[in-house]
Amino acid sequence: LNLRPYNSFGLPAQARQLVRIRSDADVRRVLDHPELGRAQKLVLGGGSNLVLTRDVAALVLKVEVAGIRLVEEREDAWIVEAGAGESWHALVEWTLAHGLPGLENMALIPGTVGASPVQNIGAYGLELKDRFESLDAVDLVTGRSVTLGARACHFGYRDSVFKHTDFGGLAGKSLITRVRFRLPRPWQPVLGYVDLERKMAETGVRGPAPQQIFEWVCAIRRAKLPDPAALGNAGSFFKNPVVSAEQCRDIIGRDPHIVHYPLADGRVKLAAGWLIDACGWKGKSIGRAGVYEKQALVLVNRGGASGAEVLTLARAIQESVYGRFGIRLEPEPVVV
Ligand code: EPU
Repeated sequence: LNLRPYNSFGLPAQARQLVRIRSDADVRRVLDHPELGRAQKLVLGGGSNLVLTRDVAALVLKVEVAGIRLVEEREDAWIVEAGAGESWHALVEWTLAHGLPGLENMALIPGTVGASPVQNIGAYGLELKDRFESLDAVDLVTGRSVTLGARACHFGYRDSVFKHTDFGGLAGKSLITRVRFRLPRPWQPVLGYVDLERKMAETGVRGPAPQQIFEWVCAIRRAKLPDPAALGNAGSFFKNPVVSAEQCRDIIGRDPHIVHYPLADGRVKLAAGWLIDACGWKGKSIGRAGVYEKQALVLVNRGGASGAEVLTLARAIQESVYGRFGIRLEPEPVVV
């Protein structure tokens, strides 16, 4: 089975076997199976945060748990539950259509609901952890279903317990089946991100409604991020690096225009896209892997690229950014 249609980068890789998971019981059936039970497993959602560099020996578990519903109306929040296999963007649309705003800043992020806590997705001033209530997952060894709250998920910037294997990490050890979201009442807009401020200034709209923010975010993303259906990609390829205030002062001394954001703890987050752009990579290619013309942080498949070509390009970018700024860029997607 070729996994090319199952990953948004459109990278080729053969898998021996793929099983569709529609419920917790489906997971247990796999675990109880004499051969499948013992196999190594790769949990696959929308494949939009994945770089496949080789054939996959593991058993692929394609998560297709469905359903979206309002499960609780509290005085201070609505709680919405969604199956891990639902499309993230479809969930955002569903909540708005049902008068349950709060996810609009994260419109149009590719991928599934089940993948959203894994990398703590975020955009335009909001992260998943700001709207997270709890999730259900099945332990891939014992088959037991568990519910995890925010603390157990160890959310960080594009990070969670599901991305780590050491120190009790759950990478490869559990399969998320449902996620519950806490949408605060009364709703309050999350503005402040430069691109949204610009939309407010351009349109003269002062107090935007949730639907208005949703439309702005969609327009901003469409203008600078490639649609994976048209041009293979996995969103931002690197995380925005965080440096000490001192290191940042050094870099500003040399490059006064560097885009940076001070963090609450005194450190500074740098725009990786700016660093890559400054090294002249925007629009460049190595083989059939390229750097997107409108956003240097996004690597794209120009047609028929292999995972190895993408990694070669990524390493070349890492080397030049390290050479010029002394900063090591860390890949954001999961590399298999
Ligand atoms: N910039 C450049 N050149 C470029 C790209 C960016 O100079 O080629 C500058 C921009 O002008 C801007 C700054 O870098 O001043 C930041 O760019 P942008 O607003 O596009 O955001 P980003 O930091 O590159 C992050 C997330 C995105 C998210 C946006 C909006 C990461 C790794 N990426 O990108 O998330 O949509 O902010 O919140 O944190 C993803 O994770 O896959 C993703 C797309």
